[in-house]
Amino acid sequence: MNKKINDKQTTLLVAAAKQAYAKAYAPYSNFNVGVAALTSSNTIVQGCNVENASYGLTVCAERNCIAQGVIQHSESAPLQFAALVVYTEQEKLTPPCGACRQVISEFFPKEAQIMAVNHLNEQQHWTVEQLLPDAFTPYDLINKT
Ligand code: THU
Repeated sequence: MNKKINDKQTTLLVAAAKQAYAKAYAPYSNFNVGVAALTSSNTIVQGCNVENASYGLTVCAERNCIAQGVIQHSESAPLQFAALVVYTEQEKLTPPCGACRQVISEFFPKEAQIMAVNHLNEQQHWTVEQLLPDAFTPYDLINKT
């Protein structure tokens, strides 16, 4: 089941992802990425990629966005996200990398919507499950003895 968000939520997420894109720190790749995610309590959080002179320490926009959600989360219920938008200015839409797919799987239900959008307003949609089938999640740690 694909839990779609509504048009207004999509518009707000795309605008927030585009705003985050402008903040990307990507002097080595020049490949800016902006991400915005909607939490289950209807809050939007943002992230951009942050590169490093020691290239391998680069952190993707998706993981920085999720970290922002963790920091801002103030309810007693566990943090859950409903949707995430990746914004780039590439003709080929940008899907989350493998590491980010794993981190997304930790905090998003498997039917949540992940969307790539570009400056031409082209869009591609996936569910979390489509991006990473049979993900290893917190449920796999239950009864670990
Ligand atoms: N990047 C992201 O931020 N998210 C992705 O999903 C793909 C890649 C960043 C990492 C690096 O700063 C740049 O894009 C080029 O790989």
